[in-house]
Amino acid sequence: MKPVTSSNSPSLNGSIFIPGDKSISHRSLMISSLANGKTKIKGILQSQDIIKTKDALEKMGVTISNFEDELEVHGVGSGGLLEPDNIIDLGNSGTSARLLIGLISSHKMTATLTGDESLIQRPMKRVIDPANRIGAKIIAKNGDKLPLTIFGTDDPLPISYNLTLPSAQVKSSILLAGLQSAGETSIEETIPSRDHTERMLEYFGAKISVNKEKSNKKIISIKGQHDLYASEILIPGDFSSAAFFIVAALIVPNSNLEIKNIGINPHRIGLLNILKEMGGKIEIYNKKINNNEPSADIKVLSSELTGVDVPPSISPSMIDEYPILSIAASKAKGETVLRGLEELKYKESNRLKSIIKMLEKFDVNVRESNENLIIENKSQNISGNCLINTFKDHRICMSAVIAGLVSQGPIHIDDSRMIDTSFPGFIEIFNSIGGRVTEK
Ligand code: S3P
Repeated sequence: MKPVTSSNSPSLNGSIFIPGDKSISHRSLMISSLANGKTKIKGILQSQDIIKTKDALEKMGVTISNFEDELEVHGVGSGGLLEPDNIIDLGNSGTSARLLIGLISSHKMTATLTGDESLIQRPMKRVIDPANRIGAKIIAKNGDKLPLTIFGTDDPLPISYNLTLPSAQVKSSILLAGLQSAGETSIEETIPSRDHTERMLEYFGAKISVNKEKSNKKIISIKGQHDLYASEILIPGDFSSAAFFIVAALIVPNSNLEIKNIGINPHRIGLLNILKEMGGKIEIYNKKINNNEPSADIKVLSSELTGVDVPPSISPSMIDEYPILSIAASKAKGETVLRGLEELKYKESNRLKSIIKMLEKFDVNVRESNENLIIENKSQNISGNCLINTFKDHRICMSAVIAGLVSQGPIHIDDSRMIDTSFPGFIEIFNSIGGRVTEK
């Protein structure tokens, strides 16, 4: 255990960079591994989750050389991954597990995947079902959980899949499998989720098309067994990591914070729109596009926030941001309603429960009704002098750290080790702009 304490701060000021986007980093490693030639990746996130994806690909025959702030991936070409000699342990990383299940299923190999105590409890049926349909066989603990063994096929079938669950991980798992299929794999997506895989596949020359229908429904199609071409990738800062600092600067008085070069993919920045609706003073500028992904600088000034009603339809664009939004809601005037949070039960912890337990410790009025959360804090005070159980969830831990900035007494947090899964250096950056986190 690595307990920390977060205490009140008078203001947050400065200009900061945030480590690379986690979703784009996973995809950059997987897709460049399947390309012909050598891909240079700059700005990759060097966190535990990404190291797990890198280790897994190396175990399947991909050579990845490490330079200071750059990786070089020597792609093995479409269908060229090799059977690993040993079990692959994916630690805490759901994205590694779900995307690799698709990728391995479409290769002639047998591989066993496992993970840490959180990952082995997370549902995998959502990716096992499509993998079975392409012709792979998977034997999983209780039919749905890691550890699981994949018996992949070298003749994967192209499938048409109706994505009823708005999940980028499921969509990506199917698309990565489709790369190896003879024919066209298509996915019908009703509620849009992050599209980093589609954008990167296009950038690498895949035969992928995305057609929007009138109802906002998308049909994503990929023609398999076509070459991907090595390229250069520049990964922007992770919006989901920046979100902690955006909310921090909004709720701490007299703050003025600039966060540079952050990914602003429209399917990721639902939180920005909600915070602006709550009255947040947030400016976006210096917009750029690199390897099909938009990024920009973000300026945040402290603001008076008002409660809002967040509909379920936008939850995929802010699915990882509910813990930190619950802190913003605790400092807002009036009621905030967060709707359609069923999927939060299946994250690194049961986040619906973890958020409620955290806010109760802060003496914030919170209740759950039919997977909606209703938060109303009449005093707008966060009490502090409490111990937060993070349930080994990095985003609960970082949210509690941010709450400590404005709490009446210090907030003690049971364990900060999981932060390294997504955001190494979080505490150092936080303290460099006026935060006060101390390790015990
Ligand atoms: C991710 C998708 C989301 C998100 C996760 C990363 C991705 O999960 O919660 O942190 O990189 O595709 P779902 O697709 O299961 O919602």
